[in-house]
Amino acid sequence: MIPSLLRTSSFVKRSFTTFISPFKAVSTTTMTASLFESKRPASSPEYDPSTLSNYQYFNVLHTDLDYRVDWPKRKLFGTVVYKLAIKDKAPEQIVLDTSFLDIHEAKINGEPVKFDADTKRIEPLGNSLNVDLETKATEFDLTISFNTTEKVTALQWLEPEQTASKKAPYLFSQCQAIHARSLYPCFDTPSVKTPIHTKISSVYPTVASGNVVPVKQDQTEYATADTVYEFQQDIPIPSYLFAIASGDLTSLPIGPRSKVYSEPPNIHACQYEFEADTEKFIEAAENIVFPYEWKTYNVLVLPPSFPYGGMENPNITFATPTLISGDRQNVDVIAHELAHSWSGNLVTNCSWEHFWLNEGWTVYLERRIVGAIHGEAHRHFSAIIGWKDLQSAIDAMPPAVRDQYSRLVVHLKERQDPDDAFSTVPYEKGSSLLFYLENLLGGKPVFDPFIPYYFGKFQKKSLDTYQFRDTLYEFFADKKEILDTVDWDTWFYAPGMPPVKPNFDTSLADVCYNLAEKWVKAIAAAPTDGNVYDAYFRACFNIEDIAGWSSTQYVVFLDSLADTTTPSAATTEAIRVLGDIYQFAGSSNPEVISRWYTLAVPARLGAATYQALADWLGTVGRMKFVRPGFRLLLKVDRDLAVTTFRKNEAFYHPICRSMVAKDLGL
Ligand code: BES
Ligand code: ZN
Repeated sequence: MIPSLLRTSSFVKRSFTTFISPFKAVSTTTMTASLFESKRPASSPEYDPSTLSNYQYFNVLHTDLDYRVDWPKRKLFGTVVYKLAIKDKAPEQIVLDTSFLDIHEAKINGEPVKFDADTKRIEPLGNSLNVDLETKATEFDLTISFNTTEKVTALQWLEPEQTASKKAPYLFSQCQAIHARSLYPCFDTPSVKTPIHTKISSVYPTVASGNVVPVKQDQTEYATADTVYEFQQDIPIPSYLFAIASGDLTSLPIGPRSKVYSEPPNIHACQYEFEADTEKFIEAAENIVFPYEWKTYNVLVLPPSFPYGGMENPNITFATPTLISGDRQNVDVIAHELAHSWSGNLVTNCSWEHFWLNEGWTVYLERRIVGAIHGEAHRHFSAIIGWKDLQSAIDAMPPAVRDQYSRLVVHLKERQDPDDAFSTVPYEKGSSLLFYLENLLGGKPVFDPFIPYYFGKFQKKSLDTYQFRDTLYEFFADKKEILDTVDWDTWFYAPGMPPVKPNFDTSLADVCYNLAEKWVKAIAAAPTDGNVYDAYFRACFNIEDIAGWSSTQYVVFLDSLADTTTPSAATTEAIRVLGDIYQFAGSSNPEVISRWYTLAVPARLGAATYQALADWLGTVGRMKFVRPGFRLLLKVDRDLAVTTFRKNEAFYHPICRSMVAKDLGL
């Protein structure tokens, strides 16, 4: 049976109300409430449509996962043991998610049982593994042995020459959103959470999501025989937060409860980048929510092909090496991943349709952390950049995508791939809603007590948007009239920008806008004789213009210029001089470098600039930079774009590789 059919349709309650199109502005509060109510599922949390498993029948009391890393074969051999309890009524089979796994054996309470792993693959969800439930017991152990295959989507295996130390191969995982099923058979849904104990035997130092259980073997010298690494995760976690990395790893402290891991050649730079802020961030977050419950907070800095900025794997945030810029200017990514310790990891979206509960709350908390440490103006500055990113992302969506995926609560019930739904929308629209609610209800002093209440109520649980809204009404029962003025339907279900634009404090952004405007005016007033452009622009501007600015201010300046300049001979020369004076291409900060090319390439600066972009693209694997970089190159020099891709293909992560190939039409 298809799991989603087991549940009542989410539209059951629609019968007593009329369906109102979210496209139209809905003004009366009764009407607003009715669309929200019409979409309310029969019971909450709503069923997850992105799993093939029959998770609704079980509580997973405990998980034991054992792996042996087979380096020569580039495979993981594993055994997983689930302690399962039947919820109400036992089904005939236990159905688990898998994807490109070889399944060897299934046992219940140690006795081999019949299973079917030879099921038809359903894209993009994978295969179901059906195990006969040959027991009357309401609580039992289910054991599956398996291995990963070369088609695994959750892992990247790197050759020694693709690493910093060049000494050893390297392996790392990325499970969010639905890739854990290619790493082990599981109920691959954020609705299922379990404590997990992991044992990994590998020739190389290994980390995983959990607290390290000390091992007896000597870890300082690589043994010829494998070493067993052990991790205990007592707080129940969903499958997408399971993570593993193994390779030539070492670590140094970055705070009283924190370490950074990386390959030995980079470890001191990594320590410098994070040691000033990590503990400050944890303490700021603890003051906003409640004490950090995961004991340790460590960061692993990955090789450059890691396709994201950061991933909030519990106890061991995975981070892109592009954060290591030597100026501590990218640490907001650490604030973000740390904030997930509450929003996402402790309190989890029940399905990827409600992803904004993870990311919107996390961006909100990230900016609260930044605000607590550097002041409200910085919080607003970051929100201004976010609002602009949201606008650009929505503008860039083709109409069909925009209609589906610029909504806060998305619809994935027809087997849409959560990776396709991924965008800035859940991040920025979600955090905008929370920021709006904070101000509407009376500002931080009034809103703040709700934060620990919400995270306390749902900790170790998974929830949907309806439960979030109900909890808000429950907590602010005396402010019902205010909450009733919120246009919930538009916020939750309408495509496009949020219905309300916040009032931002622009004090930090104004200097950036002003300088951009000065350049635009200078270009407009440039003399008509092309020979004097250089001297003219150099007479108007110098490096003092940006003295004392942060990288983020460069970003806002470059974004604003890219928005307002139009191609002309004067613009080309102006941007050339600008690049020469301010030296953005030589920045150690990829956020700045990528914006520089976004400005310089369309301004047609010429072959040397395009080649410099191509060279840079051979050094970064973070999709946020790689994909727009190739799209820029494609517009001015298709051959260079294709040869650059071919040259670096093996370096990119499989997900990134296939995305860029698509973007280039290969
Ligand atoms: N959890 C996300 C990364 C992610 C989301 C991976 C969905 C796969 C599927 C992580 O917390 C994140 O948001 N990373 C951002 C960092 C940022 C917003 C500061 C990134 O990678 O850019
Ligand atoms: Zn995030």
